[in-house]
Amino acid sequence: MGTNIGFGIVGAGLVAPFHLNAIRDSRGGAAMGIFDINRERAAQVAERFAIKVFSSLQEMLEDENVHVVCVATPNHLHRDAVIQAARAGKHVLTEKPPAMSLRETDEMIDVCKKANVKFGCFVQCRVRKAIEAMKSALDTGRFGRLLRADAYMKWFRPQEYYTSDGWRGQKKCGSGVTVAQGFHYIDLLQYLVGHASTVDAQMTNIGHPGISLEDEVLAHIQYRCGAQGVVQLSTALWPGTDVRIEINGTSGTAVMIGEKIQTWKFREERPGDEQIRTFGSSAQATGAGGAADFGHRDHTVVVQDMIDCIQSDREVIIPVASVRPTLEIVLAMYHSAKHNGPITLPISDDDSVWD
Ligand SMILES: NC(=O)c1ccc[n+]([C@@H]2O[C@H](COP(=O)([O-])OP(=O)(O)OC[C@H]3O[C@@H](n4cnc5c(N)ncnc54)[C@H](O)[C@@H]3O)[C@@H](O)[C@H]2O)c1
Repeated sequence: MGTNIGFGIVGAGLVAPFHLNAIRDSRGGAAMGIFDINRERAAQVAERFAIKVFSSLQEMLEDENVHVVCVATPNHLHRDAVIQAARAGKHVLTEKPPAMSLRETDEMIDVCKKANVKFGCFVQCRVRKAIEAMKSALDTGRFGRLLRADAYMKWFRPQEYYTSDGWRGQKKCGSGVTVAQGFHYIDLLQYLVGHASTVDAQMTNIGHPGISLEDEVLAHIQYRCGAQGVVQLSTALWPGTDVRIEINGTSGTAVMIGEKIQTWKFREERPGDEQIRTFGSSAQATGAGGAADFGHRDHTVVVQDMIDCIQSDREVIIPVASVRPTLEIVLAMYHSAKHNGPITLPISDDDSVWD
């Protein structure tokens, strides 16, 4: 292996340029090429980033200069690309959600483990400085007894977003707001306060007529740690406002809006708190009003981590195994909405939730 870690991208759609910009900005990473079943799309992205178009995934996997495969295909197709890449001995970074079922997620984790390759996930909001500060405060008990953990994502996507590509309007492809956009924020709650014990969710479509998936979910989560919270997710609320994550305990409250710390208050002030209150920028868009309306800085941290992990042979910062509980909570929300009542975790897969 030379000094550079070579990346291949599968899927040349909306998110591919975020991966490629992240690789370009990394230390020690180089994009080797891209593959898409739509060759024209691949060619356009390849031209923009001056990289090669692979004629098949197989060709990409046979290229010894490709060490990492970034999977940026629609949600229901991640599994096949991940498994092929891992079996070819490539490290893998998959987009979120890792897959559409726990079964597929476990299979991918297992194949990557047996192939001895690293397997990370782009739930990149975890690396925001505001979230890192919240996580550290939680891990050191600064909130006291944890009481509430809430996420409010009041976003907007126009009708054309859902009709722009076949998979975007189909529930079974993972295009509902809960498993698509909302996945990031359910993941933040799970990452911060831990796994859920019960989930109660209602799903509706309030703003995208003729599209048969939910564009809104209102949910209540009871966490194993004793805290509870609400999750409100929507892509129907024009013009879309920045996501709010709120954590409350008996000794502290922290609120992040977008990527910015809005409230950082603890009974015991510590050195560094004043600086934490400046974390994040209100100038950086975080996706509220448009699908490509966000920066690639968080993706860059995940890409850089993969490069560093390969070079020093350690575990990635966001292993897919750590995202599995998020998928379980998301799936429990679909179960709950379907059966009209609370769901106790753990759950098993029930593919009929996608009908
Ligand atoms: N992390 C984030 O913030 C973020 C943001 C946007 C999208 N995403 C995720 O990225 C993934 C892609 O989303 P998108 O918005 O770019 O979708 P998209 O539809 O714009 O692009 C997907 C591309 O994959 C191609 N494709 C389909 N099947 C393929 C196959 N078998 N092999 C190779 N290429 C194939 C399509 O032709 C298309 O060009 C999804 O999982 C989505 O959830 C993540």
